[in-house]
Amino acid sequence: MERLDKFISARCGLSRKDAQKCIKNGEVHLNGEVCRKADCKLNPDADAVLLRGQAVCADEHLYIMLNKPAGVVSATADKHDTTVLDILPPELRRRGLFPAGRLDKDTEGLLLITDDGDLAHRMLSPKKHVEKRYVAQLDGRVTPEMQQAFAAGVVFADGTKCRPAKLEVLPDSGEMSGIVTICEGKFHQVKKMFATVGRKVVHLQRISIGNLYLDSKLPIGSAKKLTKLDIDAIFLGNIH
Ligand code: URA
Repeated sequence: MERLDKFISARCGLSRKDAQKCIKNGEVHLNGEVCRKADCKLNPDADAVLLRGQAVCADEHLYIMLNKPAGVVSATADKHDTTVLDILPPELRRRGLFPAGRLDKDTEGLLLITDDGDLAHRMLSPKKHVEKRYVAQLDGRVTPEMQQAFAAGVVFADGTKCRPAKLEVLPDSGEMSGIVTICEGKFHQVKKMFATVGRKVVHLQRISIGNLYLDSKLPIGSAKKLTKLDIDAIFLGNIH
């Protein structure tokens, strides 16, 4: 059982005070009746709550797929730049959301935003070896030597060694684009791996995390709510 003001505040991105105001103002319905008691107890799995006529989602955690556009930063707040949270539609805003993993400001594609710290930890833990796939457009062709270097594990100029990665040539790209699969998340990793083998990445897009794929129908800059099944796909087939 959960207090009504706590429930509204956690699920709707409101402070506890604002949630209490809404309840006092008669803006909240509990099982079809206006409820003005902030400390009223409810069962999130069984009771229906409306805020200003809109159903409040009972899920404890929210999982959002964002097709990240270039120009926004993977942070919860920033003094100068627009963040990935700033561009979420109002119905997907909630307290405690954060991007699970980072994409560079100029990188596009699949970004998971959630308030589930455990999931983020499991997903980002290097021990879990969750594969991330990127489409990289390059300033030159992908060569077999580069594919071998990626497979062997690229070593950066400062001696940092990357785990073995897969580099496939993207068909129909004139060999100027590759699909890179990595299972770790070093800072600027894909760009640095290509730089090490003499190529500049001119455009980078993440297309999958584990078996969770970027929805090709989701326009750049748009977001959608994911189900628990979608989230399970991240770890599907992961042997670690
Ligand atoms: N590797 C990069 O270089 N940049 C990203 O945004 C993600 C992976």
